[in-house]
Amino acid sequence: MEAKWNEVETVETVPLEERFESIPSVVRVKAAMLKSEASREAVEWGAADFSRLSAKHVDAIHEIVSSLRFNEAHGGIIGANLANRIPYRDISEAYTVQMLDESHHTWLLTRYETEELRRPSLRVPFVVGYANWQLSHMRDPLICAMAGSHFIETGAAEVQTELIAKVDEPLLVHIFSTIHRDEMRHIVLGREAVRFLLDRPPYKTGWRRERGRMYRHFLEFYSRLALGRFRKAAQYFGIDVDRIRTNTLARVREAVPL
Ligand SMILES: [Fe+2]
Ligand SMILES: [Fe+2]
Repeated sequence: MEAKWNEVETVETVPLEERFESIPSVVRVKAAMLKSEASREAVEWGAADFSRLSAKHVDAIHEIVSSLRFNEAHGGIIGANLANRIPYRDISEAYTVQMLDESHHTWLLTRYETEELRRPSLRVPFVVGYANWQLSHMRDPLICAMAGSHFIETGAAEVQTELIAKVDEPLLVHIFSTIHRDEMRHIVLGREAVRFLLDRPPYKTGWRRERGRMYRHFLEFYSRLALGRFRKAAQYFGIDVDRIRTNTLARVREAVPL
């Protein structure tokens, strides 16, 4: 019988032996993530140098770091949602490792805010908070939550690439370089996991795939809010958030043939 549009997808329909099928590309990236978790470099706290920046630039850094810290914390929730729901062992395990990375990123940015900037975290506007909540609770079909996560990781890496190149504060550049290396692995995980899922019979054609396409529109809207929040702050460093948004959408479209 054909599923109804609002029917909740049950992972129990995936046969047991299929859940333990090895997915080599995911196993490789999971191993790389674990290796980097085990060999984290110490950060030289107290070394931030704002001497080459104006007060306006430091305010802009505060706004950007606050915003990204909020997103990193939600990255952990997105990982938890996926780790809980994905029936395939290799992918589920890899998302639990991604959660470790995201909590590390949240910690790095929290510590930068409190110890280096010595400022409280800025509150996010209601609509941005709501969009983040929606994104971290995406449920059915599973392909939407997976594609959403891949989109976020790609966008995060685009933002960090620009910040590393344009912000003249060495400690922040070091922190973003650390985060960026992790995000590149998360992009590979997301891409490989989505491709694996798209190749499974429930997702190859039909309503689940169509709903995945529909979620693209939600992600486009989300990216307007998430990136638009620090548009002015980014401009202080010559960073154009619209370019980041366009690049992110193009990269995801290219990597994931929904
Ligand atoms: Fe992250
Ligand atoms: Fe990430």
